[in-house]
Amino acid sequence: MVVIARVLLPAGRDRLAERFELREGGLNATRADLLAMVPGASALVADPSVPVDAQLLDTCGDQLKVVANFAVGYDNVDLEACRERGVAVTNTPDVLTEATAELALALTLAAARRMSDAERDLRAGRWRGWDPAAYRGIEIWGSTVGVIGMGRIGHRYARLAHGVGAEIVYAGPSAKPEAESELGARRLDFHELLEAADVVSVHAPATPETGGLIGAGELELIGRQGVLINTSRGPLVDSEAVAAALESGALGAAGLDVYEKEPKVSPRLLEAPRCVLLPHIGSATVGSRDGMANAVADNVIAALEGREPPCRVA
Ligand code: 8YV
Repeated sequence: MVVIARVLLPAGRDRLAERFELREGGLNATRADLLAMVPGASALVADPSVPVDAQLLDTCGDQLKVVANFAVGYDNVDLEACRERGVAVTNTPDVLTEATAELALALTLAAARRMSDAERDLRAGRWRGWDPAAYRGIEIWGSTVGVIGMGRIGHRYARLAHGVGAEIVYAGPSAKPEAESELGARRLDFHELLEAADVVSVHAPATPETGGLIGAGELELIGRQGVLINTSRGPLVDSEAVAAALESGALGAAGLDVYEKEPKVSPRLLEAPRCVLLPHIGSATVGSRDGMANAVADNVIAALEGREPPCRVA
């Protein structure tokens, strides 16, 4: 039996339904619903809003073979608890690289050009006519874009920003010779990058090391004209600090797709100026989400047929 903790799109769900008995929690499934549903599961399909911990694994039972996450990120899954119980963990890389990088570029342009404030004013009837001093932002052409985490998505974003005419700098645990030769990207120390870049875009996974990576001090380094973009995971950026920096003018602008306690968003951030806020839609394209659902099905089918799942992370 396969338990889908919440929902899986037909591109993956139909393939699983042909082969296995399915149980589905639905979008509003609570933790209690999930605990009641999982006993006897051989595979558990989760997503970033579903914490997969020792209690949930033990409630599934010893026959559980795989936790298939509908996401490239898997910080919601306790990998150690899975390893201890011999449960494989899989994710959905590659199929969402373009969608997420394009959303990060869209947020970059929207934040750099104050689009949210401008649109809000227009819709609210506050547009009183053209004003040469209003909504002045920065151009990406000729700017320096700093990529934190030059992995698959970071690299694709860097290509797009380079295509718009930005110089690329990056920070991360290892050198990326391909990005250096292809884009002329320069690797900098994290704090050097914050000072050098006009735009800082975060593309690193949520780990104990990256939690709270961007707080008040880092925002000050990004600076009064600087733009912060986050399409990775909420816990990397302190939302309250971003709101305070936007209010005081210490930070130029922000574009955020992810938050510490989704779907909750800091009320102060909701009111802050010069920021574009999206509800975690980085991978929300038809192609990407269908690709993710398909990848989940590939992983579950392989694991339950005794083969190595194609996207195994633990
Ligand atoms: C969302 C993501 O998880 O893949 C990830 O890591 O953050 C996003 O793709 C996805 O949209 C919902 O499962």
